[in-house]
Amino acid sequence: REAFRDAVKTVLERRLFYIPSFEIYGSVAGFYDYGPPGCALKQNFTQFWRQHFVLEESMLEVECPAVTPEVVLKASGHVDRFTDLMVTDVVTGDCHRADHLLEAALQALLDGKPKPLDTQERQAVHHLLATVEELNVKQLGDALEQYGVKAPETNNDISRPFPFNLMFKTSIGPRGDQVGYLRPETAQGIFVNFRHLLYSNGGKLPFAAAQIGQSFRNEISPRAGLLRVREFTQAEIEHFCNPDAKDHPKFQSIAREQPLLFSRALQMSEEKQPQAMQLGDAVSQSIIANQTLAYFIGRTYLFLLRVGINPKRLRFRQHLANEMAHYAEDCWDAEVECSYGWVECVGLADRSAYDLRAHATKSKTDMSAYEPFPDGSRMVDVLVAAVDKREEKKKLTGRNFVPSVIEPSFGVGRIIYCMFEHCYATRKGDEKRSLFHFKPIVAPVKATVFPLFAQPTFIDQAQAVAALLTAAGLSTIVDSTGASIGKRYARTDEIGVPFAVTVDHQTLEDSTVTVRDRDSTTQVRVPIAEVQALLTELVKG
Ligand code: GAP
Repeated sequence: REAFRDAVKTVLERRLFYIPSFEIYGSVAGFYDYGPPGCALKQNFTQFWRQHFVLEESMLEVECPAVTPEVVLKASGHVDRFTDLMVTDVVTGDCHRADHLLEAALQALLDGKPKPLDTQERQAVHHLLATVEELNVKQLGDALEQYGVKAPETNNDISRPFPFNLMFKTSIGPRGDQVGYLRPETAQGIFVNFRHLLYSNGGKLPFAAAQIGQSFRNEISPRAGLLRVREFTQAEIEHFCNPDAKDHPKFQSIAREQPLLFSRALQMSEEKQPQAMQLGDAVSQSIIANQTLAYFIGRTYLFLLRVGINPKRLRFRQHLANEMAHYAEDCWDAEVECSYGWVECVGLADRSAYDLRAHATKSKTDMSAYEPFPDGSRMVDVLVAAVDKREEKKKLTGRNFVPSVIEPSFGVGRIIYCMFEHCYATRKGDEKRSLFHFKPIVAPVKATVFPLFAQPTFIDQAQAVAALLTAAGLSTIVDSTGASIGKRYARTDEIGVPFAVTVDHQTLEDSTVTVRDRDSTTQVRVPIAEVQALLTELVKG
């Protein structure tokens, strides 16, 4: 695993997919810059996310500030409860996440050889954290023994765990008297705009709003490259619906259109982790209670496959009650396996009416929606005197309620990192030559044009072909270095360019070029006039 990870990392950093930020000043943990190919790939990724969700699901897109006044995050519960348990080493002053220490202790104890925790072990960690109230080493030892493992060595140099708020605090305005925070999730911007969005949707439910933007968390111990960072891009959807009607009009279509997908996922769940459900199980379970959540699980599955996640290394796992965020009623994670183990890449939560109710109370704004009864008027119990809670039956034609929210929340960097690992390979027979099998839709560069020789006639023609492709929105580079064609192929393979167009002698005679497919290495000869249309079609996938 480690050797594979190092090999991938070496290429990613050398080709500037991403770089530790502020490197010339020694860097700061948990911050990364995306370099040219990384930036292009991330743009393509978010653009495709917009296509798959915002456009195909007719969502309302918004963009809200990252700096958020305290009142919003007080209402949402983040000021009081967005915490991780931390312990400090009293000798060195180092800070650690309590659950990471527990994981490390468990890892050392399991068979005496460290390995990533599986789901059951990770759930045991969450259970321990929830049950051991005031964790200290003695209690930790006792608790571990309940799980049949020996107590770790006593270390009295470590403090008791205490909650650490993960938000970055700042101040707003020249006097600095208004407290603000960098948002820890993009979701709150959507919730506080709920009334506007409902109005623009004609007052009707259900509807979904989406936002792509930066979120910030002052992680105690950033680690694992792009997987746990302090500033990251989220792509979030808040789907507002009637709490009593979580059925989804398009659910049947996704289940019908994708029967293979569901049965394959089901089969994998039996082969792999029986306690961690794959898509088929997730859907059949959720369908009973929550079709909308199940629908988004299906759409998320399709999205992840389209961007290049290996379906055999993807699963959906339901949270335990004590693992869930403070706002969630039900939560499923899309977990992707990479060299760091199974990583949560998308969180799909039923946030119920938690946030809208909280903002309604704090801001004294009506956050309800009105829906007429589908069967005309009904006799309904109506509160007529608040003091003695007296109710009377009245004939009404509809009712007001605070909507429920189903939230799929994507961590863009995490998915991209897993994609890097899943797409990385070496050429058969030449293990030194690495390539990325990026799906053309997300590949940073769609085509490289090669003049066969570094001579003006070839180079001019190559540049003309590249201009044609660029004009059609296909990002294209020209490699006119004098290196051999084999070496030049290797260079574009390394950044995962899916198509190579070569300008050779025949091009000068009959205006045709060869187009080579990165994955199969097969070549076809086509007229220059057709290259643009061919590649546009191939990139769509
Ligand atoms: N609005 C819901 C929410 O923020 P979350 O599970 O805390 O839920 C959603 O975050 C996603 O954001 C995660 O599934 C993960 O992909 C990503 N994410 C969270 N913290 C992250 C971090 N420190 N670094 C990178 N990605 C992170």
